Amino acid sequence: MYKQSLPLLLAGASSALAALQVDFDSASSIRAAAKDVAFDVMSYYKGNRTGEILGLLDSPPPNGDYFWWTNAIVWSTLIDYWRYTGDTTYNDVTAEALLAQSGPDLDHAFLPPNYTVSIGNDDHGFWALAAMQAAELDLPSPSEDEPSWINLAKAVFEMQAARYSIEEDGECEGGLRWMLAPVSSGYDVKNTVSTAVFLNLGTRLYRFTDNETYADWAEKSWDWLTSVGLIDDEFNVYDSVNVNDDCETVSSLQWSYALGVLLEAAAYMSNHTGESNNHRHKQKVWSERVTSLASRAMAHFFPDGTLVERACENTTSDCNGDIHWQKGITLRSLATAATLVPELRTNGDDGDRSVAAALRTTVESAVATCDGGLRGRECGYRWAGEVVEGEEVKTTGPPSEVNALAALVVALGAQNGWSELAGSENGESGNGDSNGDSNGGSNGGEAVDDGEDEGNAGVSTRAGMGLMLVGLVAALL
Ligand SMILES: *[C@@H]1O[C@H](CO)[C@@H](O)[C@H](O)[C@H]1NC(C)=O
Ligand SMILES: *[C@@H]1O[C@H](CO)[C@@H](O)[C@H](O)[C@H]1NC(C)=O
Ligand SMILES: *[C@@H]1O[C@H](CO)[C@@H](O)[C@H](O)[C@H]1NC(C)=O
Ligand SMILES: *[C@@H]1O[C@H](CO)[C@@H](O)[C@H](O)[C@H]1NC(C)=O
Ligand SMILES: *[C@@H]1O[C@H](CO)[C@@H](O)[C@H](O)[C@H]1NC(C)=O
Repeated sequence: MYKQSLPLLLAGASSALAALQVDFDSASSIRAAAKDVAFDVMSYYKGNRTGEILGLLDSPPPNGDYFWWTNAIVWSTLIDYWRYTGDTTYNDVTAEALLAQSGPDLDHAFLPPNYTVSIGNDDHGFWALAAMQAAELDLPSPSEDEPSWINLAKAVFEMQAARYSIEEDGECEGGLRWMLAPVSSGYDVKNTVSTAVFLNLGTRLYRFTDNETYADWAEKSWDWLTSVGLIDDEFNVYDSVNVNDDCETVSSLQWSYALGVLLEAAAYMSNHTGESNNHRHKQKVWSERVTSLASRAMAHFFPDGTLVERACENTTSDCNGDIHWQKGITLRSLATAATLVPELRTNGDDGDRSVAAALRTTVESAVATCDGGLRGRECGYRWAGEVVEGEEVKTTGPPSEVNALAALVVALGAQNGWSELAGSENGESGNGDSNGDSNGGSNGGEAVDDGEDEGNAGVSTRAGMGLMLVGLVAALL
């Protein structure tokens, strides 16, 4: 009996350890793969068990592995999973998680006391964007007594606008600081992604409410980013500046999510100002920004069609768990941009690759890595290119799994003919349910190597910060 059960067990194990297989021309095949990957993402979530922390995969560092903000990315990716697949399995656990971390009251929206001392404007903003997305898609809330998603999003916007107003009269005349706490050295940093997330939230509140004040904030934030050179003339988007040198020195690091969040914001502006005749000029300005950001994104971050986080993957420098969460954000932002701006779905006359084509190539590369981990189908972090000597890129785990889920759900967006647009208060088209033919775009265009240096003048990532603090302590000893 024992002799017989062993091969049976092995047979069972090998069928359980099948790499993820997807037919990218079939919506049902992509949907099935997304379901498996969503399941694997949620297998990392223990927060709704007794004694664990609701809404979080783990205690944030130093006790656990994942920074507080990264959990917002888990939940917003699951909201997109619902949006693109229609599968409501994780809606309740998502709503519960968002509310658990939404802070004690609206005056402290997404400022839970446990984590407030180490929160940055970007962290705060990413949770607000998850609430905004819940509002746009009308995610059912577990209780009437809880603040609504839109009020949570607005409350964070008000707090960030108040912080920004202080900066306008202060150092470097605008922008958002990275960290909230003045005792943190990150307080001296003004990083692009903090301002970009605020800008993005503003454009979506503008579309949702039609209140022009939000659009004015978006204009102002954009102007500041360009005035200090965080967005340059070629639409490169850099990491940060520091108030200690009057924001003169721009960190040369470029992160795909900062560009992605700005591109999505520009797409919201271009789309919404295009809905009425009163905003012709603004529409022209923002649609040019969309085009320029998209072509820069393609050239810099999708050199062979697949997303490469170059500052992380193509260097031997520290590439930490904070950074590993960014690819999925980039992909979902690009997909929303392609939903809002149809030009992003077709390749350019000169053979430039469209955003839609790059998303298609990227999801294929991503899924090709889904053959690891405990279930034999978990996905890797690196989707293209050679491993650089001396580099350590962690493969499977929550960030890689969430990135892969993002890749799969945006592939479904293309498959469905880009119809899953978020709804809004003013009655713009809501969650689509069309199931159009394959529309994933073709893989055109030549590999682009624009030969830029990957400098390291500054870094606004939490592990980068940790290294700076370690360096400081070492210098003191
Ligand atoms: C936690 O959430 C998961 C995913 O929705 C669910 O399957 C599980 O039953 C929940 N556990 C508890 C204790 O509520
Ligand atoms: C705050 O920390 C306490 C103690 O670790 C924990 O029980 C609680 O769940 C945490 N709250 C949140 C919102 O994370
Ligand atoms: C528009 O939004 C701003 C900023 O939140 C707010 O102060 C103002 O009252 C709003 N205006 C209207 C007409 O609702
Ligand atoms: C805005 O996006 C929606 C959804 O794709 C589209 O139907 C609409 O035509 C767009 N409006 C403009 C002005 O681009
Ligand atoms: C990585 O760096 C090498 C050497 O600088 C360069 O040749 C290659 O094009 C880069 N690859 C990407 C994807 O940026």
